[in-house]
Amino acid sequence: AVEQTISIIKPDAVGKNVIGDIYTRFEQAGLRIVAAKMKHLSQAEAEGFYAVHAERPFFNDLVDFMTSGPVMIQVLEGENAIAKNRELMGATNPKDADAGTIRADHAESIDENAVHGSDSPETAAVEIAYFFSTTELCPRTR
Ligand code: CMP
Repeated sequence: AVEQTISIIKPDAVGKNVIGDIYTRFEQAGLRIVAAKMKHLSQAEAEGFYAVHAERPFFNDLVDFMTSGPVMIQVLEGENAIAKNRELMGATNPKDADAGTIRADHAESIDENAVHGSDSPETAAVEIAYFFSTTELCPRTR
């Protein structure tokens, strides 16, 4: 089915100047960018986005990292977009990520792992609504 998913290029990857490389991977996999914004998240925005992880031991470090510089947030659309984006990203821990994935190529550690992607249709809907109003989504007409 055609799906939408959230992709976030995290502060480490924005700092490495690889937004274009990552966008090329999306495009070459047949995913279309239907909304995008660059944003320097506030602490409250990062805490809210990762609220499901609030009780995890890595939560404070995660929020500090995600607010350490701007992020690039996009909605990707395409056939099986959620799984396709996760395949392109590779495993959460770059040490476990397959060769040629975004995390294998650009991530340093499980904490600074270059990208985030929604993990299910339910999460995708919540995460898209967290950053974008419906009028900001631009489904392709050609
Ligand atoms: P992300 O997909 O953005 O979701 C939560 C983030 O927490 C995850 O990527 C990792 O960068 C970070 N994180 C740090 N430690 C862990 C851990 N032990 N398990 C899962 N995620 C972790």
